[in-house]
Amino acid sequence: MWIKTIRLENFRNYKSQTVELNPGLNIFVGNNAQGKTNLLEAMYVLALSKSYRTTRDVELIHHNASTAKVYGRIQRLADVDLDLNVSRTSPKKLLVNNKTVTANSFVGNLHAVLFTPDSLQLVKGSPGDRRRFLDIQICQIDPVYRNTLLKYERVVRQRNRLLKEAFENRRILSQLPVWNRQLIELGTKIMVRRYRVLSRLNELSNRMHRNISNSVEDLNVVYCPFFTKGDPYHNYDDFSPSFLENLFFEELNSIQREEMLRGHTMVGPHRDDVCFLINDVDTKTFGSQGQQRTAVLSYMLAEMELMREETGEYPVVMLDDVMSELDHTRRRFLLSILNSKVQTIITTTNMGSFDGTTLKSASIFQIQSGEIH
Ligand SMILES: Nc1ncnc2c1ncn2[C@@H]1O[C@H](COP(=O)(O)OP(=O)(O)OP(=O)(O)O)[C@@H](O)[C@H]1O
Ligand SMILES: [Mg+2]
Repeated sequence: MWIKTIRLENFRNYKSQTVELNPGLNIFVGNNAQGKTNLLEAMYVLALSKSYRTTRDVELIHHNASTAKVYGRIQRLADVDLDLNVSRTSPKKLLVNNKTVTANSFVGNLHAVLFTPDSLQLVKGSPGDRRRFLDIQICQIDPVYRNTLLKYERVVRQRNRLLKEAFENRRILSQLPVWNRQLIELGTKIMVRRYRVLSRLNELSNRMHRNISNSVEDLNVVYCPFFTKGDPYHNYDDFSPSFLENLFFEELNSIQREEMLRGHTMVGPHRDDVCFLINDVDTKTFGSQGQQRTAVLSYMLAEMELMREETGEYPVVMLDDVMSELDHTRRRFLLSILNSKVQTIITTTNMGSFDGTTLKSASIFQIQSGEIH
């Protein structure tokens, strides 16, 4: 799939801007603070129904305006029109082909993979960062997962409230088993899906990483479900729903006293993590900057392949200012993989990172003060 047209109205530093994109490579060049990241953010908003940079939608609205709009025409088997309207005074509106829809029906129309200097947090950041990256990806291709995840998060919040209240009023503990059952049922579904996705991502990123590193490095992306307390889990023969449900149940029972003291839910997939190992060593602690960056790059490219396997179409790939951080070999590898397969949208402050053959087939745009030429 690819984005044919994108239109922004009062989005961040853009007043009114329409861009017709190339199905292949699109390069947006501009100095700092001109609107490069804002443009990618707008495109990614069409994929996720919300920004990855802020949880406050009103920040997307131009300082001098009261509403912001992003429109995109997506070329798939049939064209899809996506509209997102944000207002300072009323709730956000999402439209697919001019019909108002829920976020669950909006997400999934445009699939995107984004790689920014911040993506390094996938390796270097907290377990929460890693869960977020993983969930963003699964939610785009699986509305059922997105629904389950939202329900699970609600159950955790309600269960936390109950645990806090139970500290003063023991009688309401009688409600706990009902919440436990829901927590286990929804949590198990999440873990099974995360495990399946990560197993495949592991195979794909391992292959990518071998290619980039001339077979010197062996990358493994391993699921660390909450019950391993941060260690990679290798005994996957056992990863059946009934095994997980029993284990989850036992973990909940053994920790109940502590949960009541602390007033929050201490076990479940909201405590999962993912481990990046290079030649069996944890990249988070021991990897060099270059190794970490390459691991993230391999993982992003694996995401792209996995999305095609699961949906039959390649996602749109967005690269925010990452070319200058990659060495010549990695840059060439990246462009050769993306070339001709997927629509690629790259921002950069200088064109020095691109060779003549790459530029020949690309559309090149200049961004200055929220205007694109
Ligand atoms: N809601 C808003 N209204 C008006 N301007 C905004 C709003 N939000 C952000 N901006 C401005 O948009 C400008 C461009 O931001 P953006 O992050 O897109 O820059 P960039 O081109 O990616 O720069 P860099 O190369 O430094 O990453 C910033 O100067 C910022 O102040
Ligand atoms: Mg930027």
